[in-house]
Amino acid sequence: MLNIVIFGAPGSGKGTQSERIVEKFGINHISTGDVLRAEIKNGTELGKTAKGYIDQGQLLPDELIIDILASTLDSFQDSKGVIFDGFPRTIAQAEALKKMLAERGQEVSVMLDLDVPEDELMTRLIKRGQESGRADDNEETIKKRLVVYQSQTAPLIDWYKNEGKYQHIHGVGTMDGIFAEIVAAVEKL
Ligand code: AP5
Ligand code: MG
Repeated sequence: MLNIVIFGAPGSGKGTQSERIVEKFGINHISTGDVLRAEIKNGTELGKTAKGYIDQGQLLPDELIIDILASTLDSFQDSKGVIFDGFPRTIAQAEALKKMLAERGQEVSVMLDLDVPEDELMTRLIKRGQESGRADDNEETIKKRLVVYQSQTAPLIDWYKNEGKYQHIHGVGTMDGIFAEIVAAVEKL
């Protein structure tokens, strides 16, 4: 089982690199952000709740997101592994993931930290906002997302270092170059 946590600030390339990882290693992909955006599109109760948080650049409550994660995980049959994209985002979520995997006789194989400076993150997300119009890709909300990342999510770097799972990835450069660094890290596991 290959259980990869792909980690990084908003705009660091988690979604972009996840697609390539899925294709190369044949594992399942869970993006909590994509799940929530699909719920919003479908107008569900969960979607209505999620929209309030996402539009403000805030995280949803841990219990809610942990439940979503658990049911998505259970929906995978004969899985070779999973890439977790956008989860965990808090220490409580990391602890819940550890427990969930342990209950299934598994563990996180590696945490890949896509390291990208803030000015580059801002440039990428403003550009995406202009091109495809994700509701939270405007300057004001991006700034809030970056603050939330620093205060609530970045502490997971030390948490995963303590677990012996941390792997730094240079997140700036060509998408192919970054992917090559990821593949090298995964293949040496
Ligand atoms: P989520 O959907 O996870 O958004 P995010 O973390 O803000 O990150 P993004 O999806 O914007 O960026 P990414 O790292 O995937 O980068 P991408 O590949 O797209 O979460 C959204 C919201 O949902 C949260 O704010 C929260 O409200 C809620 N939520 C989600 N999960 C939650 C959780 N676990 N707990 C609580 N709440 C949760 O790339 C970005 C752009 O850059 C793209 O346009 C791409 O083409 C471009 N790009 C990628 N790589 C490169 C490169 N190497 N060079 C140049 N451009 C590049
Ligand atoms: Mg994403």
